[in-house]
Amino acid sequence: MTIDIGIPESARIAVAEKLNVFLATSYMVRVKTQNFHWNVEGPHFPMLHSMFEDQYDTLSGSIDEVAERVRMLGERSVGSMQEFIKHSLVEEATVGGLTEHAMLTQLHHDHEVLIKSAREFAEFAGAQGDVGNEDFFTSRIQMHEKVAWMLRATLNAKNM
Ligand SMILES: [Fe+2]
Repeated sequence: MTIDIGIPESARIAVAEKLNVFLATSYMVRVKTQNFHWNVEGPHFPMLHSMFEDQYDTLSGSIDEVAERVRMLGERSVGSMQEFIKHSLVEEATVGGLTEHAMLTQLHHDHEVLIKSAREFAEFAGAQGDVGNEDFFTSRIQMHEKVAWMLRATLNAKNM
């Protein structure tokens, strides 16, 4: 069926591509966060184990919403591990050997990447007249700013 939601086809496809990049990046950060939930070791284990669980739960909910917004634009959502790796703006974590501090630093960086890309994509969607996705990306900025703040506040502790 044709899609007539007041956005030209080329703009719809372009915004869907941005959503897929955001989806792939969010998925990579989600995998990394759960990996750290499982493998973190150190004096702050109970707190970090639990904080990482809260964060991958938050990411899981967000990922589903991002993918569904791609479908609302009539495009195919990326969904395979190969696609997530190909389109992600962040790298996978190295395997093993990461300290608590290194895990927090990597996740903080990754959420900052998500915030900056969501800001760029919100502006892009707005320029295409896609206010729905401009608003959606704005909501992702707010969500990832909260997670980044928690990671930063934890990193700022003198004994971390
Ligand atoms: Fe668990």
